[in-house]
Amino acid sequence: MNAFEIEEAISSLAQQPFDAAEFPFSFLQAFGAKDTTLRRLRSGDTNKSDVGGVLQTTNIHIKVAAPGAVTETLNLLKASPATTRGKVKFILATDGADFQAEDLNSGEVIVCEYAKFPDLFGFFLPLAGISTVKQIRESSFDIKATGRLNRLYLELLKDNPEWSTAARRHEMNHFMARLIFCFFADRTDIFSKEGLFTATVEQMSSKDSSNTHTVIEAIFKAMNTLSEDRAAAGIPRWANVFPYVNGGLFSGSTEVPVFSKIARTYLLHIGSLDWRKINPDIFGSMIQAVADDDERGSLGMHYTSVPNILKVLNPLFLDDLREKLDEAEDNPRKLLNLRSRMSRIRVFDPACGSGNFLVIAYKQMREIEAEINKRRGEPERRSEIPLTNFRGIELRDFPAEIARLALIIAEYQCDVLYRGQKEALAEFLPLDSKNWVTCGNALQIDWLSLCGPTGTGVKIQSNDLFGTPLDQAEIDFDNEGGETYICGNPPYIGSTWQTAEQKADLEAIFSHRTKSWKSLDYVAGWFMKAADFGRRTQSSAAFVSTNSICQGQQVPILWPLIFKTGHQIAFAHTSFKWSNLASNNAGVTVIIVAISNDVQRERKIYSISTDGSSVVRSAENINAYLVPSPNIEVQPAKRPLNGLPMMVRGNMPYDGGHLLMSADEVSELQLTDEQRQRLIRRIYGSAEFIQGKERYCLWIEDQDLAEASLIERIRRRIDGVRAMRLSSSDKGANEMAKRAHQMREMNIGQHHTIAIAAISSENRPYLPCGLLGNDQTVTNKVYALYDAPLWNLALMASRLHWVWIGAVCVRLEMRFSYSNTLGWNTFPLPALTEKNRADLTRCAEDILLAREAHFPATIADLYDPEKVPPDLQAAHDRNDDVLEGIYIGRRFRNDTERLEKLFELYTKMTSGKPVKSSNIRMKA
Ligand SMILES: C[S@@+](CC[C@H](N)C(=O)[O-])C[C@H]1O[C@@H](n2cnc3c(N)ncnc32)[C@H](O)[C@@H]1O
Repeated sequence: MNAFEIEEAISSLAQQPFDAAEFPFSFLQAFGAKDTTLRRLRSGDTNKSDVGGVLQTTNIHIKVAAPGAVTETLNLLKASPATTRGKVKFILATDGADFQAEDLNSGEVIVCEYAKFPDLFGFFLPLAGISTVKQIRESSFDIKATGRLNRLYLELLKDNPEWSTAARRHEMNHFMARLIFCFFADRTDIFSKEGLFTATVEQMSSKDSSNTHTVIEAIFKAMNTLSEDRAAAGIPRWANVFPYVNGGLFSGSTEVPVFSKIARTYLLHIGSLDWRKINPDIFGSMIQAVADDDERGSLGMHYTSVPNILKVLNPLFLDDLREKLDEAEDNPRKLLNLRSRMSRIRVFDPACGSGNFLVIAYKQMREIEAEINKRRGEPERRSEIPLTNFRGIELRDFPAEIARLALIIAEYQCDVLYRGQKEALAEFLPLDSKNWVTCGNALQIDWLSLCGPTGTGVKIQSNDLFGTPLDQAEIDFDNEGGETYICGNPPYIGSTWQTAEQKADLEAIFSHRTKSWKSLDYVAGWFMKAADFGRRTQSSAAFVSTNSICQGQQVPILWPLIFKTGHQIAFAHTSFKWSNLASNNAGVTVIIVAISNDVQRERKIYSISTDGSSVVRSAENINAYLVPSPNIEVQPAKRPLNGLPMMVRGNMPYDGGHLLMSADEVSELQLTDEQRQRLIRRIYGSAEFIQGKERYCLWIEDQDLAEASLIERIRRRIDGVRAMRLSSSDKGANEMAKRAHQMREMNIGQHHTIAIAAISSENRPYLPCGLLGNDQTVTNKVYALYDAPLWNLALMASRLHWVWIGAVCVRLEMRFSYSNTLGWNTFPLPALTEKNRADLTRCAEDILLAREAHFPATIADLYDPEKVPPDLQAAHDRNDDVLEGIYIGRRFRNDTERLEKLFELYTKMTSGKPVKSSNIRMKA
């Protein structure tokens, strides 16, 4: 169940008469408990309560209290040994009148009337496996409103199928935006009487809903007509009570879809909600999903948390404003300067969705401005921060509309908060008709036309703020000139997932700069456009991105182009999970990278340390791998640059499952021992290598083919491979059908193979590598050094190699994706003496012996981050001591120091020139 379904279920539970016996089960059911779970709890099989309640292990202990005894019952639940034994997260007591609950992990307690508990449902979301950020827990209203609006939207589309066609979608979305405005205005005194809109619809439209649309049309028309023109426009008396709103919101067609009785009921119900509580930064993200066929099922799951947005906005410019505020203390002149500086700051999000970055930036700036005004003794002063300085581009029509609306609502709420309801109301209507969110493709629009340093950009004379055409910059007012901060989380989209149009966008931006543009993620387009924008005006840009643009192959393609424009990385946040409301809260792994052409800007690297706290470091330079080092791009190398042996990918089976076999399938071949030794090899892919799974392959040298083909089961397998390869559309595969008895490569170590898995978890402290015998081989999921000296294994198993691969190779999410060309061939290594090699060989042997001592533990078992056996850890420590001693005569202090040294050596290795590492200044 998603959050919206849960909210609906518990709202409906709270509306039913309280049933003491049923309540615990109905409550659990509302949070998604399955029928079997409930049956077993009812029968007592799994109910572990020792106080006559219902205890679901690891979740919740509920007891219905005697009337008036809710507090005592909650205390009883808290003291109950079963609560501790059952490791429950929550305790809950209610008598149907009062309701109390406690989150035993956080100690947070809720106390409310029974009827109100659905408003606090976010508190219990962990019961449904939804771990939420605080903001979500506190946005019950936004979830409720979104869920209800979604129902209305679907109902209207059912009754008005033509409104769901591409031709009318815009109108439908526009209609929803108008409705939301009316609901908000209904509860915030913007209309002359509380609930005026909803009440008017209820009174003036007949119960059978037949004229609901005409009533709403008349209201919309009134809101688009100046009072002096109303008589001529034939606005009915009952609609004349609505104010003139316009601002584009009610201009254009005021046609309204027809309402069924159900739709009318939904509308009236939505109107009865307390829209004062709307949170425009959260609500927008949720509501935009309503209009999106693909996203509707997971309503609002793409919600981006406010703390994450602040990770972008704070270092980009808000921290600086706050610092200046601190410095100004109560000095009126300094405060005034800061205020006038802020009034000219433009925040620009060129993939703004429903405007959450813009709304949050606006709200934060208003907070700072309010403090300035307070210190200057002008607390009620009108804001000098124009909403029109918060600009966006958004491809999709509905989010763009919602972004405008969200900003308008945010402005009103800030005015109420900082200046008072009266002042807010006095200036709210009519809405400003200037347009500042453009609906169009950000990679095709000229950003300067939207956010030019000064002057006026493209002028569109239109009085329809919400109905302007696509792909045009819509700024039609003067810019005063000031700082511009670009921000957002544009779509990431790796090269394999891009549509033809998205590829064309990247081609237009990059093809005249690099041949390799096809490998870039879509988000790279935003970085390049921001850098181009910065050539013409002073600006800094910070985007959330996938980490792949700062790893592996994309680094040498993208970053030299950015640096060439005079930009540097101003700050960065290394990989972290971008949490959202998805039911498993998996979140994507992202980074934040800011570029700036302001050379004076202090450079900062933010990261999350192992204990979860945030760490900030200053650096003189941040390179494209987000390391405090000079700018270097590690290029893939076909051959080792470091004198190391050639590493190759293992053998590609390309066999349709016929050459590879389980142990049982090998037995079924009924080979003699001698045949088995000759025709079968144990084979390792990543999973076999890491998890110790057994797998074998046919290993048929050409001279053995005739003999092998006489064995019926082997012959059938070879036929299967041939058929599979012939059926492929790939010519290479067809060619390979001629030797269907073999994998694409037939490489094997004559003495041994040093192997390393291609894909592996980032959580292991060392890369999964090891030594295989000469009767063992590897698939293409493993890289191999055939018959290389053992000291090479010491390199692979080192922390230094782990750090290098993590930085320069591609990561899949966070997982390591090893590469011979990017990782092994480029690994910076000082010249090794004979003694060094002997020492490292010894270290590698010790690691292997330590592993042996734990036979049959697998690599996955041995390198579980919490459980590396002490003797194995000691062997690795010795290995790192020896290897790092070769680099700098001692162990490195941390991974950052390791990377700095590696980048320094890489530069030497590739340029032949020595590099001083002293130009890196590190602060704690
Ligand atoms: C990851 S969302 C971010 C939106 C918002 N900041 C949030 O957190 O919900 C990216 C947004 O970029 C929009 N988008 C995608 N391609 C675009 C393009 N070429 N130009 C402008 N916007 C685009 C999408 O429609 C989406 O709303």
